[in-house]
Amino acid sequence: MMHLDSVESAGGRLGAVLSAPRSGLVRIGPGGPWLATTPELVRQVLTTPSHFDFPGDVSRSGDLSGSTADTRSGHTVFAPVTPAQVARGSEVFAREWAAALDDHDRTHPRSPYDAMVLLRRPVARSTTAAVLPSIEPSRRDRIGDLVLAWIDALGPVISARRPPGRWSRKRRTEEAARTALEDALEAVPDRDQSAGELAALLAAGIQVPIAAGAFLLAWLGSTGSGDVDPTHAVWETLRLTPPTWITVRVATQDVEVGGQSVRAGAMVFVSPLLLGRRADLVPGDDPSLFLPARWSVDGRRPGAWLPFGAGPHACPGRNLGMAQLVHLAQWGTAHEIELSQRATIDQSRGIAPSPCRFTVAPRREPSA
Ligand code: HEM
Repeated sequence: MMHLDSVESAGGRLGAVLSAPRSGLVRIGPGGPWLATTPELVRQVLTTPSHFDFPGDVSRSGDLSGSTADTRSGHTVFAPVTPAQVARGSEVFAREWAAALDDHDRTHPRSPYDAMVLLRRPVARSTTAAVLPSIEPSRRDRIGDLVLAWIDALGPVISARRPPGRWSRKRRTEEAARTALEDALEAVPDRDQSAGELAALLAAGIQVPIAAGAFLLAWLGSTGSGDVDPTHAVWETLRLTPPTWITVRVATQDVEVGGQSVRAGAMVFVSPLLLGRRADLVPGDDPSLFLPARWSVDGRRPGAWLPFGAGPHACPGRNLGMAQLVHLAQWGTAHEIELSQRATIDQSRGIAPSPCRFTVAPRREPSA
């Protein structure tokens, strides 16, 4: 069976964070930014907005893993998605996932599925349907396509080593994609958010579930999808490979955290991926293993590693994201999924499995 590379073997920033000591508030590299490594300190950083502000401006960069040091005080807090939005988004996801599989089978019979491609439309249409209830489906789907185009154009801007200049081709392509999306959103009736805010909400609510869904399929396809509780498989995915694996806040004033003096303007990172590897937060065997059953043995509830963040910038789309992923896991565990080639970890924007190609067979029920 092909495998998904472990994040432990990944280098780059991911490697640096994973190899940092886990003893409280620590520096990543000499004189570098801070990293909060315990759940208490992470909570302190995420839930004290007067001391730790969200950096950058997601509506301009779309990069929720942020890393620019300017703050965006006054940013609108997004309201959590409502149960009605989740219900609408789930229904659309189920329909579009089935359609995407059919489409693939018709156009590329016998070739493996590619999760990062296959999930684009179902997630884009589901999240757009949830967020924009009042417009007709064809217009909504077009907005979903515009969000995908913006996400694609943002990729090279975010992953560039140095921020591309305002007139660079990457920047202009991104700007054109964002403008096309914002123009379409301006025309949406009865909206209570600006076009820029809606664009940021949709981009976050599409990019992250695509990566999470692909990781889920990669885990099922490399560890076996039989006899797995779908919801537990989702939690294990969000524990070992949370797409938003790191986020950052900027200290707005000199502040003491875990016995360390953090100066105003310093960056403090928190990582759900790192917390999810702490043995004290995870019941059962070796926390580095994908073992959905660990959540059925102990009475412990999953989520202590904060895969959806915490505080005023916690994920407003969490219930929709969970609904999409649980549907996907129900489908996945009803089939035999197998990775058809090794999947590596792409760290260019959050994390995502790349490539994530897999084959599917109906699940063979054990004979009685
Ligand atoms: C499995 C799916 C998802 C995961 C794992 C996830 C994870 C996260 C995390 C960790 C954050 C906090 C970032 C931080 O503190 O810096 C966040 C923020 C956010 N998420 Fe999600 N998310 C998911 C799905 C969604 C969906 C479906 C939507 C939209 C409907 C959404 C919209 C947002 C927005 C707008 C923010 C920024 C909130 C703010 O800055 O105030 N997410 N998400």
